[in-house]
Amino acid sequence: MKLWGGRFTKPTNQLVDEYTASITFDQKLAQFDIQGSLAHVKMLAKCEIISQEDSEQIAKGLLVVAEKIANDQVELTEENEDIHMNVEKLLIDEVGPVGGKLHTGRSRNDQVALDMRLYLRDALVTISQLLFDVQQALVKQAEANLDTVLPGYTHLQRAQPVLFAHHMMAYVFMFQRDLERLADSWKRVNKSPLGAGALAGTSFPIDREYVAEQLNFDGITENSLDSVSDRDFVVEFLADASLVIMHLSRLSEELVQWSSAEFNFIELDDAFCTGSSMMPQKKNPDVPELVRGKTGRVFGHLSGMLTTLKGLPLAYNKDMQEDKEGMFDTVETIKGALALFAPMIETMEVKKETMYQAVAKDYSNATDLADYLVGKDIPFREAHAIVGQTVLYSIEQNKYLLDLSLEEFMQFSDQIAEDIYQVLSPKAVVNARNVAGGTAKNRVEDQLKQANALFEQNQAWIEKKIQQIDQLLLTNK
Ligand code: ARG
Repeated sequence: MKLWGGRFTKPTNQLVDEYTASITFDQKLAQFDIQGSLAHVKMLAKCEIISQEDSEQIAKGLLVVAEKIANDQVELTEENEDIHMNVEKLLIDEVGPVGGKLHTGRSRNDQVALDMRLYLRDALVTISQLLFDVQQALVKQAEANLDTVLPGYTHLQRAQPVLFAHHMMAYVFMFQRDLERLADSWKRVNKSPLGAGALAGTSFPIDREYVAEQLNFDGITENSLDSVSDRDFVVEFLADASLVIMHLSRLSEELVQWSSAEFNFIELDDAFCTGSSMMPQKKNPDVPELVRGKTGRVFGHLSGMLTTLKGLPLAYNKDMQEDKEGMFDTVETIKGALALFAPMIETMEVKKETMYQAVAKDYSNATDLADYLVGKDIPFREAHAIVGQTVLYSIEQNKYLLDLSLEEFMQFSDQIAEDIYQVLSPKAVVNARNVAGGTAKNRVEDQLKQANALFEQNQAWIEKKIQQIDQLLLTNK
């Protein structure tokens, strides 16, 4: 007999059971579901809705069920549809009919909203920590490469030289924005919807704040209809995660390019590469490739969730059960990628000499020749034209700017003097970008200082949140 079977005269068609059940995937919520139930049942006793004795018996039973699920000692069945009803069924098996009092003043609609929030806030902390690890690996590479110059590109054409440290720091600040977005979303995730009931609230004299406090929520949701039909926090997470993996994918693309013989700027550690079954010489950058590839599924989950929600009337609709797999998959996909990225970045070999050669053998110091002429009071537009001709001449001569003799330079402008060779050297070109946020070494050192200040904030936030959720696990163990 189903928990809700009273109103029915026939058993459910087996295909319906299979089609509508969510237990195959929502069992991931088991520990959060039980946490929520422990808080709920404690509140029921405190508000004298059930007796203290019943409450304690139920709580004890719930802990046994938690243990049994964790150790795979019980069967979760499609017949019992989802994790909420499976737990309730197992509880009744454990403690008898008194277990049937657990669901007083509660619906699966507010229960599932609660579980999703408990799961997600846990994931937010884990993902933030992993993002922070990647930032720290990038900073280590930046610190080790404060004198490493490589071509900076626009249109994937060599544009102006930059420090490799500057390039690494660009990603540090991208991931900082990602972290701040996750931290901001925490505020909207960490509110308790329990007490909204099926949609309208409950007639029992419950204490929603008390439940919220037990679960270390920062407060309760404001409106019962909204509480059970809101999945904005899932959409928001998927959007935040999309930006994380888009950033990872851009970095992946660079790592793949840089690992090719054509660039040869870096070599990923053997531990993070794979071979070919046919070509013995191959060492493939599979990890960044796969991260780049998995970006598609995360974007897909965002688009899927938005589409699922767009036409839904208030309040709960079964469609909303589709909120789970995309969210779980996104959490796993992001965690997996970040966990690999930190050590992969930290262990990659940076080929300083090849990078330097790439800068020496190109025209990326052309802007500096123009700026030099501007310093001699030639209008920039004129200087631009002079340098264009100088570059054209050099290409025809099969030379780079630094290969030209002073006489050759002077064919284009008599304002060019001996000091031009110093001005056009790669290090001088880099250090000339001495503007806040620029690639000059001292400016990159400033960025490292800024990052360190932000890292203290990150560390403090993560520690505070870990405490908030860890304590909870302990009290429920
Ligand atoms: N398994 C359902 C879900 O994930 C739980 C809520 C079901 N509520 C209901 N009234 N059928 O959305």
